[in-house]
Amino acid sequence: MDWGMQNRLSRLIQKDGKALFLPIDHGYFQGPTHCLEKPGETIKPIYQYADALMLTRGILRNCINPAVEKPYIMRVSGAVSVVGEDLANESLVTSIQEIIRLNASAVSMSVFVGSKYENKSLANLSKLVDQCETYGIPVMAVCAVGKELEKREARYLALAARIAAELGARVVKTYYCKEHFEKVVNGCPVPIVIAGGPRTETQREVFDFVYDGIQKGAIGVNLGRNIWQTEHPVASIRAIRAIIHEGYNPQEAEDLYNQVKAGKA
Ligand code: 5RP
Repeated sequence: MDWGMQNRLSRLIQKDGKALFLPIDHGYFQGPTHCLEKPGETIKPIYQYADALMLTRGILRNCINPAVEKPYIMRVSGAVSVVGEDLANESLVTSIQEIIRLNASAVSMSVFVGSKYENKSLANLSKLVDQCETYGIPVMAVCAVGKELEKREARYLALAARIAAELGARVVKTYYCKEHFEKVVNGCPVPIVIAGGPRTETQREVFDFVYDGIQKGAIGVNLGRNIWQTEHPVASIRAIRAIIHEGYNPQEAEDLYNQVKAGKA
């Protein structure tokens, strides 16, 4: 692997081989998402606990101090909206010059395997990989399901993750599934990070699935709403970080969460 590619990946994936990415890109198709109306404010208390941010160039330029030391992953697919016809009909929306100009450590884009726009999104992934590999910039493929949340099961996720890796993604983001998640990880030759999805009923559910996903081979998470939409974002991200980087089990994570919440840690 070339030095530049290795260097960028090592800014994202830590020495222990694990990673906690904090996405705040949801506005690119949802508009001012709850708790993300002012992304710069949302991340102030929590970004120090993340290994990298994930966001669009618009939020980067307008809300993030350029002196920030945190690496970031730039979302470069979009041009759809939640009120539009089909979320899967994404295009590449950022040029390679802009990606380099804004010093992204990696880029990400969604692929919609099995959708009407499967070919378009997969061809876009290949195109992006070609452009980014030239400059040593890793591409993270986001295996998206749009509004079809029921697609979050092992057979589909394994298929989508593998295809994304075959087309050249250096990291793949998929959802977690309770049954056979190891099949998703084992069938994918590049590191996998787990998305959080919509807010869970309890915080413990998040600790449980992050822990189980890591046990089954994921290297970490790309997890947003179940951090910054919760009542206690700092407690939440610290507990998740402890699972990923310090080997906490879900009970230990919950204990830490409660201590941070109570101002005791
Ligand atoms: C949104 C994304 C998000 O980065 C991804 O879904 C993770 O965020 P969350 O944990 O809130 O689901 O790709 O388009």
